[in-house]
Amino acid sequence: MLQVKQASKVYQGKVAYRALTNINLDIQKGEFIGIMGPSGSGKTTLLNMIATIDEPTTGTVLIEGNNPYQLNRNEIAKFRRRSLGFVFQDFNLLHTLTVRENIVLPLTLDGEGVEEMNRKADEIAKTLGISSIMNKRTYEISGGQAQRAAIARAMIHHPKLLLADEPTGNLDSKASKDVMEMLVRLNQQEQATIFLVTHDPQAASYADRIIFIRDGQFYSEIHQGENRKAFFQKIIDTLSFLGGDDHDFSSIRD
Ligand SMILES: Nc1ncnc2c1ncn2[C@@H]1O[C@H](COP(=O)(O)OP(=O)(O)OP(=O)(O)O)[C@@H](O)[C@H]1O
Ligand SMILES: [Mg+2]
Repeated sequence: MLQVKQASKVYQGKVAYRALTNINLDIQKGEFIGIMGPSGSGKTTLLNMIATIDEPTTGTVLIEGNNPYQLNRNEIAKFRRRSLGFVFQDFNLLHTLTVRENIVLPLTLDGEGVEEMNRKADEIAKTLGISSIMNKRTYEISGGQAQRAAIARAMIHHPKLLLADEPTGNLDSKASKDVMEMLVRLNQQEQATIFLVTHDPQAASYADRIIFIRDGQFYSEIHQGENRKAFFQKIIDTLSFLGGDDHDFSSIRD
């Protein structure tokens, strides 16, 4: 459902900076992909490229066979709103709105009726275990609840592709585990393809496949085998070969 072909990204500035070089990906519908690599290796750049936010300098991105960068401004906004879901480390919830209002935001933008919106919001809130906080403001809820609300918002329109950049970065290990289990459930129930960027080996171990990048280039890839514990160990081993800064190993020291 997603292909990246020979994609490179060069940021133009006083000094041009090459953030990605010749990346190739072929991701099937319903796959849960993890992306790992040291800080500055180009993970967010790659996610933004796939998210239709940041066009590759050379090479192509195809989502269901179509090049989103060939769409005009309106079409691309609509495509993003309807087909993609986003979850970020800092939740990106709007603080003046309630949890419910945040969750239905993508539908509001598409002019859906209030009753239908509320029905969908209640349904997803139930799945994510946040029914009791729907009328709270975002400053009245915990980080884990905020992240679940953000996931609900990202999933309410049943996106084909969910893009998550460090979704557990601000969560403790319990909330992080809950959020990951939720992503797995949504991945399995909705057949949504998930693209997860993370430094956290525990979070990454929920993926079907992990692609490691270093210095903007493909480094290696590993597949989830028969059990998650063994996969976790494989992730740790690959990270230790990969090197990088201390930040990358923060969750191993815990
Ligand atoms: N808009 C930009 N302009 C110039 N350089 C950029 C821009 N965005 C990112 N870079 C550079 O590209 C490289 C890759 O950045 P990117 O954000 O993709 O890394 P990352 O792997 O997500 O790192 P982290 O784990 O710290 O989030 C970095 O060296 C960064 O400084
Ligand atoms: Mg990043």
